[in-house]
Amino acid sequence: MTTTDLPDRAEIDATVKLITDHAPRVFVWDYERDREQLVTLYNRGMASQWNSVTDLDWDTDVDPERLVTTAKHPNAMVELARDAAEIPGSPFASWGDKEFTVLGIEALKAQLSQFMHGEQGAMMAAAKIVETVPWIDARYYAATQTMDEARHTEVFAKYLNVKLGEAYPMSRFLEEQIVALVEDERWDITYLGMQIVLESLALAAFGSMVRTIEEPLLNKLLRYVMSDEARHVAFGVLSLREYYEGLSGPELKDRQEFLAENTLRSRSRSVDPQIWERMDVDFDAAVPSLMEAASKRGKSAYAGFAKSFHSKLVPNVRKLGLLDANDGYLRRLWGEAGLLEYEFADDTGSDYATYDEVAKDRAAAATASG
Ligand SMILES: [Fe+2]
Ligand SMILES: [Fe+2]
Repeated sequence: MTTTDLPDRAEIDATVKLITDHAPRVFVWDYERDREQLVTLYNRGMASQWNSVTDLDWDTDVDPERLVTTAKHPNAMVELARDAAEIPGSPFASWGDKEFTVLGIEALKAQLSQFMHGEQGAMMAAAKIVETVPWIDARYYAATQTMDEARHTEVFAKYLNVKLGEAYPMSRFLEEQIVALVEDERWDITYLGMQIVLESLALAAFGSMVRTIEEPLLNKLLRYVMSDEARHVAFGVLSLREYYEGLSGPELKDRQEFLAENTLRSRSRSVDPQIWERMDVDFDAAVPSLMEAASKRGKSAYAGFAKSFHSKLVPNVRKLGLLDANDGYLRRLWGEAGLLEYEFADDTGSDYATYDEVAKDRAAAATASG
């Protein structure tokens, strides 16, 4: 390759994001394996790794239009745009089924693109944990997770590239979250933000998509990714529970404030403006009718998703002791926000084996052949 093949500086600057990580790297001399639950999790992680080339059938013929029209629930953005079309003056008023189907395809591409970028962030966070966590069993596990996240990044990128078309850039919200976690000098904050908050968010997002999409390749891809994510959440709970037992009140308060900030701040879930660009819709002209349609609907279109996220997040945070530390500081804040009804909901902190669709498929295949 000659130097003329390289992209110019401006192009590189536009796509490369440099992050400065402030956490010290640790070399551990103690190889004693005394954290049994982490050993079990590591063994499970090794056994349930899947192969992105041979376990998924990439020859599956995917018709994006069919994928969207056969989905069990229409995309929330499409539903909102359909409602907005009823409002006089709305740019959607002239739309027919064809346009709404195209919007559904773009919304799916945008969502899968955020999954892809988020997975790369998870790969970086897991790699950072390998280098910064002071326990050998946690390092071993984080190394398997790094491989899992590489596979996840790769399969979302491949599905987008081969089956759907051009991906979308990373959203501002996701970028801010991930950069903050990778920069932080405290190793447990990377864990807390990634393994407890973002992994719960990912499990909820993948779960709602897998229940909707019938297209067999994407459905299986999501089921396999979720099998891994459930172990990742468990990893966070097992490691942090022990670490937080040894922290002081003010140190725990920092972690509680981190959680409050990351879960209560109202985040803009508005769809990437690029979607409207690709759809040839003037975003400013579309906003009033979308807002009106949303307020007529009353309940947020994302209420179901939020419920699913909180039912994974809150029980795990309780297990870490962070609800009740400092006289129930976080219990009070989350209580006011209505999150405590999920305190004893899903148990993703320990029932990762029930999510292991890879092991289930392998057992079924062994039974069928034997
Ligand atoms: Fe992942
Ligand atoms: Fe993960």
